[in-house]
Amino acid sequence: MALKITVIGTGYLGATHAAAMAELGFEVLGLDVVPEKIEMLSRGKVPMYEPGLEELLRKHVAGIEGSTGRLRFTTSWEEVGEFGDVHFVCVNTPQKHGEYACDMSFVESAFAALAPQLRRPALVVGKSTVPVGSAARLAELLADLAPAGRDVELAWNPEFLREGFAVQDTLQPDRIVVGIGGERGEKLLREVYAIPIAEGSPFVVADYPTAELVKTAANSFLATKISFINAMAEVCEAADGDVAKLAEAIGHDERIGKKFLRAGIGFGGGCLPKDIRAFMARAGELGADQALTFLREVDSINMRRRAHMVELARETVGGSFLGQRVAVLGASFKPDSDDVRDSPALNVAGQIHLQGGQVTVYDPKGMENARRVFPTLTYAPSAPEACRGAHVVLHLTEWGEFRELDPAALAEVVAEPRILDGRNALDAAVWRAAGWTYRAMGRPRV
Ligand code: UGA
Repeated sequence: MALKITVIGTGYLGATHAAAMAELGFEVLGLDVVPEKIEMLSRGKVPMYEPGLEELLRKHVAGIEGSTGRLRFTTSWEEVGEFGDVHFVCVNTPQKHGEYACDMSFVESAFAALAPQLRRPALVVGKSTVPVGSAARLAELLADLAPAGRDVELAWNPEFLREGFAVQDTLQPDRIVVGIGGERGEKLLREVYAIPIAEGSPFVVADYPTAELVKTAANSFLATKISFINAMAEVCEAADGDVAKLAEAIGHDERIGKKFLRAGIGFGGGCLPKDIRAFMARAGELGADQALTFLREVDSINMRRRAHMVELARETVGGSFLGQRVAVLGASFKPDSDDVRDSPALNVAGQIHLQGGQVTVYDPKGMENARRVFPTLTYAPSAPEACRGAHVVLHLTEWGEFRELDPAALAEVVAEPRILDGRNALDAAVWRAAGWTYRAMGRPRV
């Protein structure tokens, strides 16, 4: 009989995973402790912007016309315990307030609520990003608290999906990594992922600590790559070089690769920043802090980029933001996402606002979330509206929509045609030809 799957926590990761499991043919039950989320998802609505996710959900949510009916949602732990052969735990692990370490409280409470409901053999699969050592501890907790005892096994299966590509990354993962505690874990996960494995996704089997470390190591590597190119941008600025050209040239070396070498205002979001900090904190606990001191530098290079963008903007408007209108294009931490968690764009907008600038923000999808975080900024309904009367325009999140803007038309509505490209994503020649003063990070002025 086909495996029955539950997904605990229905944020980015969980909602996407639940829909993907239904797409792979399984009966799926999703659980969240927030009843409003469950209510929305049960109507086939996704509480965030993620391309393709709502369509996939509607294809499977029970009760929606024409759906397969394979996907349902609940707030009942008892129902989850009864239903599932495999339980995926997808709750988030944000950064702790005032500390580098990650907050494990959602993971702890999910396991504490799930375990007493496990009355029959089951596999619990952790997908959350956790400090190394967590899986071994949680396996003991399951053994102690689950009525089915040793018939309940734990596996750790980190997730590598990118926001904006969540559906694709979940259905066609570039690798599947599983940390296992016993044979049943591997067998069942091979069954769960049979389709992507058959389609060529590598299946890497490891022990718990290695699987946990793969996730933090991967995000640390990506963060390091971005900060590396941003450090090169700093040097290029000092030496009058062009970091975009430099990135293109070193990227031709296959060992280096072209990806994640876009210099600009740096990385943000709910993953990279908090993951490198949690990794440093955990290494410290393990007595291996020296191994990761370089991540402190990666973090500070990254944070310096935001401050540098604020400085560039201040310099561009003549040394002070007082009485100056600043248009900010982009609020989400990256394009094709409405996520503003630790968003470099919003952080820059906020800093300029605090320094007395009159900031107007526009983002194609992130406005509602941005307003919640920064209610004191002004928000405009379109890019041209945000730019109206601006003394400088800041391009801070590289949405496709901004590359489509007509620089000549936009020049008509601003007070001064000056643009700072914080993502190195606009065509400098086109903007300059339309009369704009275009400046980007790590690139020559003219
Ligand atoms: C990241 C990882 O890429 C995923 O593999 C991982 O699963 C996920 O975290 C997670 O831990 O859940 P995500 O946070 O969606 O995914 O975003 P990325 O695409 O990694 O971008 C992160 C930030 O880096 C963005 O702010 C982006 O603008 C910035 N970035 C990216 C650059 O500044 N330059 C680049 O060249 C690439």
